[in-house]
Amino acid sequence: MKIFRDIPSIRAHLQNLSSIAFVPTMGNLHAGHLALIKQAKQLSSEVVVSIFVNRLQFLPHEDFSRYPRTIEQDCLLLEELNVNTIFIPDEKILFPTHQEFLLALPPIADTLEGKFRPGFFRGVTTIVLKLFNIIQPNLAIFGKKDYQQLYMVQEMVKQLNLPIEIIAGETVRASDGLALSSRNQYLDPSQRIEASNLYQTLLHIKKEIISNNKDFQVLQEEATQRLTELGWKVDYVQICDRASLSPACYRIEPLVVLVAAWLAKTRLIDNIEV
Ligand code: PAJ
Repeated sequence: MKIFRDIPSIRAHLQNLSSIAFVPTMGNLHAGHLALIKQAKQLSSEVVVSIFVNRLQFLPHEDFSRYPRTIEQDCLLLEELNVNTIFIPDEKILFPTHQEFLLALPPIADTLEGKFRPGFFRGVTTIVLKLFNIIQPNLAIFGKKDYQQLYMVQEMVKQLNLPIEIIAGETVRASDGLALSSRNQYLDPSQRIEASNLYQTLLHIKKEIISNNKDFQVLQEEATQRLTELGWKVDYVQICDRASLSPACYRIEPLVVLVAAWLAKTRLIDNIEV
């Protein structure tokens, strides 16, 4: 396993490789990340994993400084998976000067996550584009757990004509349904038990839609009310058209239900395809 910390050395290492699969992460790896990496290994002989906690995608009051950083443990996990190439740049490598060139994003970036975390997708797409330019992968894998992020990256690749195939990885969940996330460790034991209700709420909405409940507005409101009664502060529950991620009115298109809510100081997101 080789760890690269600067751009010239990883570029030199990857120079003559014909097929590279890339999995960008912010580290603190869990089974969700590892599933993406296993998927990458099936698709390509050379897998590159990056670990970089990207300041650009955190708002000033968010958890950038307390975001869990567990590089040694991450490297052990990657070694067990026989990942050959890891890119762990520090901030001075990726941002040698203030990052003034930033992407301008379509209006969808200001909805859902973008509405509650202004600038988030600009930060994500800017770092992902930088990493793509450094690694120059043939394909890159992103988790459906961060559904709108996956959507934004797919749109960026399409609209900027990047020669990279974006592959979606299914969400990996704990046995009670909670989607794995580095932020789950902020939950105390009783919050951790309550947290499974986020996915239960999505399952309930999915069941209702499948059994032909057509009143999406009411379904969203009821879900918000139920979570609120259980002690959550809901940012959004939104039934969307999968192709455009805009709010859906009818069950004519493939749908996805997206939710974001706070349990005390921890913000969790999840989604389910219908
Ligand atoms: P991070 O939260 O570390 O996630 C890295 C990748 O793992 C993302 O594609 C995310 O969707 C995926 N992932 C996280 N939890 C998952 C789960 N339970 N099941 C399946 N996949 C899961 O997302 C980021 O980092 C950053 O925004 C990044 C893309 C690296 C840009 O900084």
